[in-house]
Amino acid sequence: MRALVLTRYGGPEAVELTDVPQPSPGVGELLVRVHAAGLNPVDYKTRAGALKMIHSYRLPIVMGNEFSGVVEAVGPGAGRFAIGDRVFARVDRSVLGAFAEHTVVHEDHAAQMPTSLDFPAAAAVPLTALTALQALRDELQVRPGQRVFIPGGAGGVGTFAIQIAKYLGAYVATTASARGEALVRRLGADLAIDYTRERFEDRLIGYDAAFDLIGGDTLARLWSVLVPGGRVVSIAGPPEPVTARKDLGRGLALAAAFWFTSLTTRLRAARHRATYRYLFMHPSGADLAYLASLIEANELEIVIDRVVPFADAKAAMAYLETGRAKGKIVLAMT
Ligand SMILES: NC(=O)c1ccc[n+]([C@@H]2O[C@H](COP(=O)([O-])OP(=O)(O)OC[C@H]3O[C@@H](n4cnc5c(N)ncnc54)[C@H](OP(=O)(O)O)[C@@H]3O)[C@@H](O)[C@H]2O)c1
Repeated sequence: MRALVLTRYGGPEAVELTDVPQPSPGVGELLVRVHAAGLNPVDYKTRAGALKMIHSYRLPIVMGNEFSGVVEAVGPGAGRFAIGDRVFARVDRSVLGAFAEHTVVHEDHAAQMPTSLDFPAAAAVPLTALTALQALRDELQVRPGQRVFIPGGAGGVGTFAIQIAKYLGAYVATTASARGEALVRRLGADLAIDYTRERFEDRLIGYDAAFDLIGGDTLARLWSVLVPGGRVVSIAGPPEPVTARKDLGRGLALAAAFWFTSLTTRLRAARHRATYRYLFMHPSGADLAYLASLIEANELEIVIDRVVPFADAKAAMAYLETGRAKGKIVLAMT
């Protein structure tokens, strides 16, 4: 089968579109004929070796974190799906494999595709929508009437995060350049600040929570917009000790490393009487089924920047790497 394979850590040249043997489903797994796969920043970060401290992949490895497709076979002990079912999933992050004509996924990580979506739209959902759901519902525990700041609302995660925060009943402020402003307003943002022209901290005050999708200088500046006791969840700042234990199931050594790398950020949080948490999202068929129900109920719009033929996967990744995508970029296998 055709697959996008990472041969060594490095730049775009470290990735090859090539033929590899088709996988077979193990215990509890499904073999899926992939119709479409979503691209995410984690793909080029993995390629560059930026996540080596967290995942040490044995190379070569078939890349890709999320897909939509049709079940072709079920492994021993797998009973939740039947051959022919249309499914979507965020695959196990230590295994990958979605950028291929076939992939295997544990059935607990998969869900039935919403009937209202085609394959490309469904492939754009799992990783980013699960991230937004787990951050806003589970970590920040957003409640009706709260004010939530989401810097970076126009990208893959942001377009879901705005809609999920609104669904949870929050007042939502976000940042986007002029290129993304109409989009974030259409998705329900109550306040959109053009980060290229204004400093968001000059406009925002009294926010209960922030879901940071940008990190760096944005994360360093956002503390003053929060109420005392405000909470910040980031997916782009430094991981902290809870990330190591709760999200990655790792021991003291990684927790200690993350304690050091997050020290400045945690001190800033303490100074503003706020809390800081870095979230690594996790695959979840149950959460994905919940998101599918929101999509069926027209509560979530899927924003796709472009659908690209699988043969052009490297060019698609280069475009994602510019950091300018509006919504998701999807590879079409069929
Ligand atoms: N920890 C986890 O579990 C997890 C999960 C998912 C994603 N992530 C991380 O979260 C980050 C966001 O992911 P994504 O998929 O949303 O990325 P993305 O789709 O590549 O984001 C692109 C968008 O970001 C906007 N943007 C760029 N710089 C900005 C700034 N300074 N302020 C506001 N907006 C800005 C761009 O808007 P303009 O073109 O208008 O500037 C563009 O629309 C990435 O670092 C990713 O690796 C982590």
